[in-house]
Amino acid sequence: MSRTRTSLLAALALLTGTSGAALIAAPAGASTAATPCTVDYKVQNQWDTGFTAAVTITNNGAAKSSWALKWSYAGNQKISNGWNAKVSQSGAAVAAANESYNGTLATGGSASFGFQASYSGTNAIPATFTLDGVTCNVDGGPTDPGPTDPGPTDPGPTDPGPGGPKAANPYVGAKVYVNPEWSAKAAAEPGGSRISNQPTAVWLDRIAAINGVNGGMGLRAHLDEALKQKGSGELVVQLVIYDLPGRDCAALASNGELGPNDLDKYKSQYIDPITSILSESKYAGLRIATVIEPDSLPNLVTNAGGTNTTTDACVTMKSNGNYEKGVSYALDKLGALANVYNYIDAGHHGWLGWDSNLGPSVQEFAKVATSNGASMSDVAGFIVNTANYSPAKEPHFKVTDSVNGQTVRQSKWVDWNQYVDEQSFALGLRDKLVAAGFDSGLGMLIDTSRNGWGGSARPTGPGPLTSVDAYVDGSRIDRRIHAGNWCNQSGAGIGERPTAAPAAGIDAYVWVKPPGESDGNSSAIPNDEGKGFDRMCDPTYGGNARNGNNPTGALPNAPLAGHWFSAQFQQLMQNAYPPLP
Ligand code: GLC
Repeated sequence: MSRTRTSLLAALALLTGTSGAALIAAPAGASTAATPCTVDYKVQNQWDTGFTAAVTITNNGAAKSSWALKWSYAGNQKISNGWNAKVSQSGAAVAAANESYNGTLATGGSASFGFQASYSGTNAIPATFTLDGVTCNVDGGPTDPGPTDPGPTDPGPTDPGPGGPKAANPYVGAKVYVNPEWSAKAAAEPGGSRISNQPTAVWLDRIAAINGVNGGMGLRAHLDEALKQKGSGELVVQLVIYDLPGRDCAALASNGELGPNDLDKYKSQYIDPITSILSESKYAGLRIATVIEPDSLPNLVTNAGGTNTTTDACVTMKSNGNYEKGVSYALDKLGALANVYNYIDAGHHGWLGWDSNLGPSVQEFAKVATSNGASMSDVAGFIVNTANYSPAKEPHFKVTDSVNGQTVRQSKWVDWNQYVDEQSFALGLRDKLVAAGFDSGLGMLIDTSRNGWGGSARPTGPGPLTSVDAYVDGSRIDRRIHAGNWCNQSGAGIGERPTAAPAAGIDAYVWVKPPGESDGNSSAIPNDEGKGFDRMCDPTYGGNARNGNNPTGALPNAPLAGHWFSAQFQQLMQNAYPPLP
């Protein structure tokens, strides 16, 4: 487990006395020889009569298959409910036992859980914790170098310096890596130089991408170039981790090279080599933002059983557990590196924005981030709208609007969703994640590469107040036929340019999907990349349950996913919003 902003923020809060947070755990850099377990107990939110807390246990002893953590309160704290552990209380004594899914605690492994409680007076942090009867956080003995907390002079979010603790927001005060390969393709397009100097993510979409496909740049080549772009300042390199076993289980366009059972290959031939390159000391000064496995966990939530969108492939990936194990493994290995910031993919509002999907998604994220060696401290944040087209903000209507006494939620377009755009979705999701035990400093990313929706079809104000449908359809800048459409959308434009910290809780607007790279082929194309033909990329197809059986709105004549699609690139520039010069 790595030193993270969980402990950094907690330490700062303790030192400055600005909240009820406290750092109990020995820092990761301390010797663990004489410390059988560490417990990080952090009060997250506190109000007059209650509080929520997040607890992370790290086991430094022999591996466990179940665990129970106990403590006693000095005050009148009374726990009402917990998550990711079975929490019970008798008088002042509290016991928290693992759930069925997070009982395994390897040596060095962590588990996290949270709870809500009432209190009055002072809400003191418990003095002693025992894990299965053994006292945690005990003096590490003579070899313990002692706390390495940054102390009150810590510069905070702006610049932790190379090798220092992770930044609260890695994008603040940093440039972002411009991928020379994408940049060259963009610059070769008429008008492309207007955006070719923008940062885009590097997709490690197959094992061969680590060394470079067909003589192209591999990971080391990108990192070496990143060091040049960095100079003496700070620089973020954005990598998409995208090669899970049985990839893209609810669609065909981005099916990958690994079969559903290739978990070992994913670990040893994909995640391990990436981790090993990233841990080379010459790259320690780069900030690495990883986008973890787009679409995978959302697919487990909505498409893996009991819904009319279920696919056999997603059922398989849920039952064999290989998406979950793969994501946990990636979080654990990458999160252990001091300069890596993991952002888990969380779909988009038009997928997970219904409460019935969002609650289970948060549970799924919490489960994966606390299983198989991963801990919540391995997670810097989440990303929404990866490679999708949902606007960051719908400027002309809100989900709380109503027309003639009817909520817009009952319009055909909104269809009872709780959100109408990505920024409100990202922040709503963030609140729920923090309530479920994730770091209160969690940062969200929004992929704005293709969600601008400018051009002549963009509404300039609210629609007519004649009906909820007329109002919403006249207001919405998202001109898709249905929010479930995702492939090479006709009418889409470049969105907000990459921006650090555009709003509280949002680490950055980023361009993860490189504009001009296809989402999928519009007719069958033989290939050796494992990619199938998904008819959601075919403009003549009538759709399926995931887009309400509507036309796909896809552009014709599209090449394979990831391949250059000049006509789409030109359309995206044409319809950019804000417009391009
Ligand atoms: C799609 C493709 C992948 C490509 C990525 C970025 O997901 O499947 O190969 O790298 O898009 O364009």
